[in-house]
Amino acid sequence: MEAEGRARAIRGLEDVIAAETRVGYVDGVNGKLYYAGYEIGDLAKHAGFEECVFLLWNDRLPTKRELAAFRDELISEMVLPRPLVQWFKRVPRGVHPMVMLRSAVSDLALYDKETEDNSMEANRRKAARIVAKVPAIIAGFYRIYNGKGLVPPDPKKSLAVNFLRMFTGREPDKMSREAMELMFVLHADHGFNASTFAARVTASTLADMYAAVTAAIGALKGPLHGGANQRVMEMLEGIGSPEDVDDYIDGMLARKERIMGFGHRVYKVEDPRARYLRRYAESLCGSDAALHPYYEISRRIEQRVKKAKGMYPNVDFYSATVQHALGIPVEYYTTVFAASRTAGWTAHVMEQHADNRLMRPRSQFVGKIPRRYVPIEKRKK
Ligand code: ACO
Repeated sequence: MEAEGRARAIRGLEDVIAAETRVGYVDGVNGKLYYAGYEIGDLAKHAGFEECVFLLWNDRLPTKRELAAFRDELISEMVLPRPLVQWFKRVPRGVHPMVMLRSAVSDLALYDKETEDNSMEANRRKAARIVAKVPAIIAGFYRIYNGKGLVPPDPKKSLAVNFLRMFTGREPDKMSREAMELMFVLHADHGFNASTFAARVTASTLADMYAAVTAAIGALKGPLHGGANQRVMEMLEGIGSPEDVDDYIDGMLARKERIMGFGHRVYKVEDPRARYLRRYAESLCGSDAALHPYYEISRRIEQRVKKAKGMYPNVDFYSATVQHALGIPVEYYTTVFAASRTAGWTAHVMEQHADNRLMRPRSQFVGKIPRRYVPIEKRKK
């Protein structure tokens, strides 16, 4: 009790090392990100999403055969339980897709016979189901909610590409396929970010994997974390034209408002993921008269914020323009982030369960102590 009183709180757990991991590493000083030791630039250039998931779960790259089998397993798991699809029709209008997703992932636990089995083998199978079914939920919900028919997965296509075609109902062109694959690769893991930490805390009580991923989705939704990409797009739309950027940004800074998609707790330099997404934002917007202004506005914001605050864009900044160009409606942006991050969340749950210790920090009590109980009739108004 006394020790608890004396301990000093570290606000926001800044720089606190809460566990050991082999899953991912964020080098904030040098602006580098690694999945199981492999640099994100290497993976973005050479690997697809499935290969990254295999790497995060197994701490090694797959053989050709293993990768083909793993992709087959994931695509075959993209089928959704029928009651969940029925439920999509009953979701009230105006619900945020992240609220739907959080409920739907919790719901998946109802239909999985292995929910209560935390063995490594069962966790591995559940992880595959979650990684495969989350994109299918997002696409399926979007289509049914908007009175469109479901699009079945194509076993010959990757998970990310299947997500895009199952969402939009169109066969995407080469650049769109590459962009969505990259989106999935870049968002797959990111050290002990808030949502991953939420997943690990939940897993550390030996709760099931669905509970951990549900908790993670809850944490990802907030605008200081994954919810920022939606706010970025709303800001781009609010600005409207490249000429209005400087006044708009200067006004926000003068009012001490946060510029969404900028700043990061760990990166002191540019977020490497922003670099890759910027390239795709530029290519996708190209000379398209409707899209190009969004890229132009984004570039101008980047220059202005860098000059005024010395801050760099994070992953959420160009993800907004990329997703807009891919035809994803703004309120779904964070769900796409979630679909990819299921890879990291599930990897962390398996790592936590493999060598578990309950996560139970303490708080610094700053109230009055001790206080004498006063009977209700004697309390002053
Ligand atoms: N716009 C304006 N000012 C900012 C921003 C921003 N985006 N980010 C930080 N600052 C300022 C703060 O106001 C503060 O200034 P002060 O010292 O003059 O008071 C200083 O920079 C330090 O900020 P902190 O709040 O201490 O930084 P913290 O590490 O807590 O915040 C965070 C990190 C939450 C990401 C923050 O940069 C932010 O709010 N960014 C906007 C939201 C966003 O893009 N979130 C996505 C992050 S990436 C991800 O989760 C996937």
